[in-house]
Amino acid sequence: MQTLIDIKNLNMYYPIMSGNWSAKKEFIHALNNINLEIRKGEILGLVGESGCGKSTLGKAILKLIEPSGEVSFEGQNILKLKNNDIKNFRKKSQMIFQNPYSSLDPRMTVYKILREPLVVHGIRDKNEINSRIFEIVELTGLSEEDLKRYPHEFSGGQRQRIAIARALILKPEFLVADEPVSALDVSIQAQIITLLKNLKEKLNLTILFISHDLGVVKYLCDRIAVMYLGDIVELSDSATLFNSPKHPYTQALISAVPSVYKKDAEEIKLDGELPSPKNPPCGCRFHTRCRYAKDVCSQKEPEITKISDSHYVRCVLYE
Ligand SMILES: Nc1ncnc2c1ncn2[C@@H]1O[C@H](COP(=O)(O)OP(=O)(O)O)[C@@H](O)[C@H]1O
Ligand SMILES: [Mg+2]
Repeated sequence: MQTLIDIKNLNMYYPIMSGNWSAKKEFIHALNNINLEIRKGEILGLVGESGCGKSTLGKAILKLIEPSGEVSFEGQNILKLKNNDIKNFRKKSQMIFQNPYSSLDPRMTVYKILREPLVVHGIRDKNEINSRIFEIVELTGLSEEDLKRYPHEFSGGQRQRIAIARALILKPEFLVADEPVSALDVSIQAQIITLLKNLKEKLNLTILFISHDLGVVKYLCDRIAVMYLGDIVELSDSATLFNSPKHPYTQALISAVPSVYKKDAEEIKLDGELPSPKNPPCGCRFHTRCRYAKDVCSQKEPEITKISDSHYVRCVLYE
């Protein structure tokens, strides 16, 4: 499979306010030297607890924030792009969010919401605008009647369809879906997930699907990356990750999801709280909560170990 996006040594530090003027500047190290490849045509899941850096990674690879490192998209380092090249890249990559209501302008009809990106990217011909809008309305399961309505007239699931339609109207190659179903009822979640899966096939999309819910990613994603405090600790094809999770953190995450775990197995409880990314633990960032932690874990950052061609883990147990 071809690589669409190649992420190398990606780091993101958010400056934060410290209470004291004289104190030195403080930072949150939200991405800790991430290396990851996203393959053309796949749905890659990105899972982990809230605050581990999933949204930061999604935004970083769309150049919505300014990380250091390299993100190459079809061979071009997008972190170095300027002006017109950025605009071109924006056409090829899009993002949808957890709360479609806050990302849709309440004063615009659905028609105007869908027309806007076309106009911004220089499509002015009314016939072309209308045919693109009708096409995407049909693909996303909306109706032509819906075009006259405003976002508040729709349910959460329908609003997410509108957000998806807007994201896909420029025919991007890559979509970051950041917890797109987390705010929806379970019955509606399944509809939106099926929709994304179908759209991926019809439009040849590559999707980074972010979720804190493993139950959601299991059936949708080809591969899954597990994140903990700014690190990717395990990367695997989806089936292997669920059948044979290697990292103690992944094992705990999976054991906590009743719908995907064997009934007789016991839930693995994590020790303590998620440490602050302002002061992440030394060595393996997970060692403070790991039931297998040894002395070495607090001293040295584990290497990435290859378990098989499609399975990688960052833990001394496998080095
Ligand atoms: N704009 C920001 N300024 C400062 N800190 C931020 C900002 N955005 C996110 N963070 C911090 O970076 C870390 C990762 O956040 P985020 O990427 O939103 O995690 P997730 O999406 O996995 O919940 C968290 O500690 C969060 O508080
Ligand atoms: Mg997030």
